[in-house]
Amino acid sequence: MLSQIICKDDVSLKEALKIIDLNGKGVCFVVKGKNLLVGILTDGDIRRALLSGGQFNSKVSIYMNRDFLSLNFDADTQLINQYLSKKGIKIIPLINKRGEVVDYADHENFHSIPVLSPNLNGNELKYLSECIRTNWISSQGKYVNKFEKIFSDMHPGYYSLAVSSGTTALHLTLIALGIKEGDEVIVPDITFAATINAVLYCNATPVICEINSKTWCIDIDSINELITPRTKAIIPVHLYGIPCEMEKLIHIAKDKDIFVIEDCAEAIGSKINKKRVGTYGDCSTFSFYGNKTITTGEGGMALFNCEKIYNKAKLLRDHGMSKTKRYWHDVVGFNYRMTNLQAAVGVAQMERFDQIIKSKQTIFNFYNKKFMGKKGILQLPINSSNIINSSWLYTLILDEYINRDSLIDKLKDLGIDTRPSFNSLCDMPPYKGFTHSKVLKNSQLLSSQGISLPSSSSIKNIQLEHIANIFLDAVASIQKK
Ligand SMILES: Cc1ncc(COP(=O)(O)O)c(C=O)c1O
Repeated sequence: MLSQIICKDDVSLKEALKIIDLNGKGVCFVVKGKNLLVGILTDGDIRRALLSGGQFNSKVSIYMNRDFLSLNFDADTQLINQYLSKKGIKIIPLINKRGEVVDYADHENFHSIPVLSPNLNGNELKYLSECIRTNWISSQGKYVNKFEKIFSDMHPGYYSLAVSSGTTALHLTLIALGIKEGDEVIVPDITFAATINAVLYCNATPVICEINSKTWCIDIDSINELITPRTKAIIPVHLYGIPCEMEKLIHIAKDKDIFVIEDCAEAIGSKINKKRVGTYGDCSTFSFYGNKTITTGEGGMALFNCEKIYNKAKLLRDHGMSKTKRYWHDVVGFNYRMTNLQAAVGVAQMERFDQIIKSKQTIFNFYNKKFMGKKGILQLPINSSNIINSSWLYTLILDEYINRDSLIDKLKDLGIDTRPSFNSLCDMPPYKGFTHSKVLKNSQLLSSQGISLPSSSSIKNIQLEHIANIFLDAVASIQKK
């Protein structure tokens, strides 16, 4: 954060050293009045000042560098990159027309922009330190209950169970619903492999379904033809934050007495007609992996609308151990618990939930506006008035004449990290057998031409502008090989 790197010109060397120590960047920007940049001071400058007779209480204005490099905040990215690649330049203050520092560029913040990075600027460290200080570091402790309560309050009518990952949440819900060998579970062709793996862990048979050409989530019209008397569950995945057409799906499932488990790993905060995803199915699951909208490092949550199934899952989460007779097991369970440390981070994250979602949506709207109708872009993510897309990861589909993988390499060289879409499950060795033979056209297109752009909630406006411009230039210069 900019405020952590700024010091006033009338503070002492000791104060400046404290700022440098906290920001970990080896430097602070010295300002006068309303952030007017008047100098730069490095930890080396302070060391030299002390060795040459300066005192800790000497003013920074005596020892700061007045002859420093700064650039305009809307400076050309290539220029910034040129400076940053020079020896000795690690950080550049970015100033406005009045000479006030408004941002900075360094290798971490500018030179290479990650696709997703966690935003841990709230009470995460405070709550974690409290767990350590009080010795509550395993799965007992107040934060696990607090985190679960936040989810139950947010998803009325659902019981929440904090678990060790999004994958274990999926496995646990399937097992608690009684899914077993011989049962069939319908999953979309485009998802992270955990969705289908969880079905396989139960020795059940996954049945891979086409995705919808507009939502990129499971195609409701294709589901009907896959249902057999053995179909026991459907797992819709709200891909990249885009909600599935849940109302239609629930109608089909209810009619045929099939369970629905919503995989909300990528979609916490998304809504359909003002109703949250995760509140349509019999169960729903969330992931808090480090790149997710809300993170606990590793972690997950399972929600249940039936108390009996919830109690069964709770028992299974904890080795299947009896609550009344110690070390007595009636069933084979798992250790799928979340630690108090993870939950402490989760609680801190949820305090800033609205703010994080807002930033994500700003990113989504920015990119959508910037890319609308641009050459080389075939399809933008759906933007319909009845849905709220919490915009975990901004993804678009490139025209088929663009070589997506060359584009990714080119962007990497220009300091922008991007991601290809998930591969079609049908194409990968472990899952090939679980599809009907016909080609799934929609999923093939997303799989081969989909690309995700940097979408961290902490991303800055100048970075967004920079990414979008570089991206469009790169798209214009790349053809299919
Ligand atoms: C759609 C989907 N389902 C399940 C998972 C598994 O979550 P985890 O990595 O927490 O096990 C992920 C993500 O990583 C995911 O994207």
